[in-house]
Amino acid sequence: MNICVIGTGYVGLVGSAVFAGWGNQVVGVDVDQAKLDMIQAGVMPIYEPGLPELVAQGIRRGNLRFTNSTAEGIKDAEVIFICVGTPQGAAGNADLSSVLQVARQIGQSLDHYAVVVTKSTVPVGTNQRVKEILQETTQQGVLFDVASCPEFLAQGTSVYDMDHPSRTVIGSDSPEAIELVAEVFKHLPAAIIRCGFAEAELIKYASNALLATKITFADSMASLCDLVGADVVLVMDAVGKDPRIGAMFLRAGLGWGGSCFPKDVEALAYLASQLSLPLPQLDGTRNTNRRVHKRFVHKISLYFDGKLDGKTFAVLGLAFKAGTDDTRESPAKKVIMRLRGAGARVRAYDPKATEKAILDLGTTSLEYCDNPYETMAGADALVILTDWPEFKGLDLSRVNSLLKNPVIFDGRNMLDPETVEREGFIYFAMGRPTNGQRIINGKDTTYVAKLTNGAGLNK
Ligand code: UGA
Repeated sequence: MNICVIGTGYVGLVGSAVFAGWGNQVVGVDVDQAKLDMIQAGVMPIYEPGLPELVAQGIRRGNLRFTNSTAEGIKDAEVIFICVGTPQGAAGNADLSSVLQVARQIGQSLDHYAVVVTKSTVPVGTNQRVKEILQETTQQGVLFDVASCPEFLAQGTSVYDMDHPSRTVIGSDSPEAIELVAEVFKHLPAAIIRCGFAEAELIKYASNALLATKITFADSMASLCDLVGADVVLVMDAVGKDPRIGAMFLRAGLGWGGSCFPKDVEALAYLASQLSLPLPQLDGTRNTNRRVHKRFVHKISLYFDGKLDGKTFAVLGLAFKAGTDDTRESPAKKVIMRLRGAGARVRAYDPKATEKAILDLGTTSLEYCDNPYETMAGADALVILTDWPEFKGLDLSRVNSLLKNPVIFDGRNMLDPETVEREGFIYFAMGRPTNGQRIINGKDTTYVAKLTNGAGLNK
C-alpha cells in the first residue's frame, strides 16, 4: 500500500519505519529539512530502541523515503496519516494548530481519492473539523474520507508497541474508509475496533486518563503506607493480581510525567469543563499527581531538618521514565528545581537524557556527570529519580565509600530495602517501611501528633 506519514516525531517517525517494515511504500513528511537530513544520515532525533535499524532498512530497501513537501509526500498515497504534535494550549486545551494546518496543506494538494487519518491524539470534534477543512480546500471533484486511528505506543518501547498493539481503533463516518485503513493493520493479531469519530477520539483520552489514575492511586497508597508502616509494593502487587484490576501501572513513584499523560489528562478535563460537566475524580488525579514530587522533596527536607541550603545531592535520572531521552514534564526535573530552589547543589547523571536536560535546566547549581559514581563524591545523599534498570545494579559499597553520608532517597523504589539497609545506608523509598522513613516519621510534627493522640501508627 502507498502510505504518507506527516510528522517525524515519536508517532510519525516510528510509524513511517514500522509501516515500511510491513512492506508498504512509505513517504515521511516533515517541514524541518535539517531533521530529515539527520534521519537520512542515520542519526535519529529521538532515542528509541530498534528505530535506527528499521529506518536504515527501509531506506536501503527503497520503500521508505522522506520529503519536506506535503504535495510530494501525498502524491500517490492511498492513506495519509497525520502524526503532528498536539501540545497543551494555554487553557489546558489541546493545541490543534499543527493538525489543522496539515489538513489545509493536504486539501490544497490532493488530486486523487485518499483517506486522511489522524493518528495524533486529538479531542472530540477534531476529525469532523479536519473533514470540513478538507471540504473547503480540496479541488472540486477530488474525493476523500477522514478517519481517526489513535496510537497507543509508549516511548522507549515504541517500535515493539506498534508491531504488537493491544488493539487497533479506527473511527470514521465512512465504512469504506475504515476498511481501507484496516488493510494497513490486518496482518496483526490485535482486534480492530471499528467506530465513529467521537468514540475513537475518546478511547485514546479515556485510556490515558485511566492509566494515569491507576498510577495516582498507587502513589496515594504509597503516601498512606509511609504513615502506617506498610509496604506499597506488596500491597499493589497483591491488588494487581485481581484480573479485574490488572497488574500494570500500579508502580508508585514520583507521579506520571512525559509528553502524553499530563497534556491528555488536562485536555480531557478541559473538554468536560467546556461542557460544564464536573469530573471530580479526574480533578483528584490531576491534583494528587501535582503533589507527589513535592511530598518526596518534603521527605528529603524533613531528614535534613529543613536545611537544604548548601547541601549537595547526587541525582540519578533526568528522563521522565526509563528507556527514553525525553525530559518533557519529567518528575526528575521538578525535584531538581525544588532542591535548587532550596539552595542545594545537584550533580546529575542520566544514561540518555543529559543533552535534553541541559536545554531545560541549564547549568546553574547543576553539574552533569558521565557515570553514576561521578555524581557521588562528597555528596550529602544519593537521590534516584528515574527508573533506569542500571540503577538497580549499583555497587553499594562503592556508593557508600563515595557519599559523605550513607543516605539514599529512592523516588522509584528501585532498590531492595533489606540489602540497602544491610549495607549500612539510611534508606528512603516511596511507601516502604524503611529505616529512613521511621526516622522522619518521628520528626514530622503532624505525624507525631497523630501518634500521641493514640492512633499508634507505625510503632
Ligand atoms: C503513554 C501511554 O502508556 C501510551 O499507551 C500512550 O500511547 C502514550 O502515553 C501517548 O499518549 O502517546 P508514555 O507517556 O510514553 O506512554 O509513558 P508511560 O510508560 O505510560 O509512562 C508515563 C508516566 O507514568 C511516566 O512518568 C512513568 O514513569 C509513570 N509510571 C508509569 C509510573 O509512575 N508508574 C507506573 O506503574 C507506570
